[in-house]
Amino acid sequence: MARKPLIAGNWKMNNTVSEAVVLAQEISNGFESDWLDHLDVAVCPSYVDLKPVRTVFEFDKLKVAVGAQNVFWEPSGAYTGEISIPMLREIGCAYCIVGHSERRELFGETNEDVNRKVRALVAERIGEIHPIVCVGESLAVRDEGAYLSYVDAQVRAAFAGVDASEAKEAVVAYEPIWAIGTGRTATPEQAQEVCAAIRATLTELFGAECAEGMRVLYGGSMNEGNASLLLAQPDIDGGLIGGASLKAKSFLSIIKEAL
Ligand code: 13P
Repeated sequence: MARKPLIAGNWKMNNTVSEAVVLAQEISNGFESDWLDHLDVAVCPSYVDLKPVRTVFEFDKLKVAVGAQNVFWEPSGAYTGEISIPMLREIGCAYCIVGHSERRELFGETNEDVNRKVRALVAERIGEIHPIVCVGESLAVRDEGAYLSYVDAQVRAAFAGVDASEAKEAVVAYEPIWAIGTGRTATPEQAQEVCAAIRATLTELFGAECAEGMRVLYGGSMNEGNASLLLAQPDIDGGLIGGASLKAKSFLSIIKEAL
């Protein structure tokens, strides 16, 4: 089954509102809207930048989506500092990154937290927000050689209690921690091996039809120089891009590689 690629930029904790608006406008200026016949594109700015960035794309009638970098699973209540799914939905978020390794490592997010967020997102049938579920091993796990079983367990934990009709809305991103922000990209073969293994896990969980339709992305030092070979792999359906998404020129170049 042909899957439509997804190129998503994770801006992480970068860009004030004014900086974010400038970057969004630069992306819009360099974008050719017929690209979106062939692939989906999203940017994931900080919470405060979401609405202004979305407004730039809406004003230009460009269907580049916006996504959040995190969410809390409760719909409302006394959870100081948290952001809910209805809040994201109202400002038109189409995606939400869940379980990024920086959240797992720096903010103590567990597999159980990730699962609660995924379940809350896929349970929302109206104005749906697609989770981008991040998995990936540390260098220590890679060096031990147990990375496939480690990632398999992360995928199973993230999707516990989710059925195929819900899972098909989700995206999985394989982001080996040793490749994030390090300039040390996984080779296309390394990335393909794990993305294929992720699809095999999804097939066991949800059946072949569902798993063949789900997008599996690669993330970790992807840039305009290495994107083409990574995106050519049969089980890599796009990229989750950090540093290289912060400059319009490099982000647009990666999008062109995915066409
Ligand atoms: P870099 O592209 O900066 O390595 O970041 C990848 C990432 O963490 C995307 O979520």
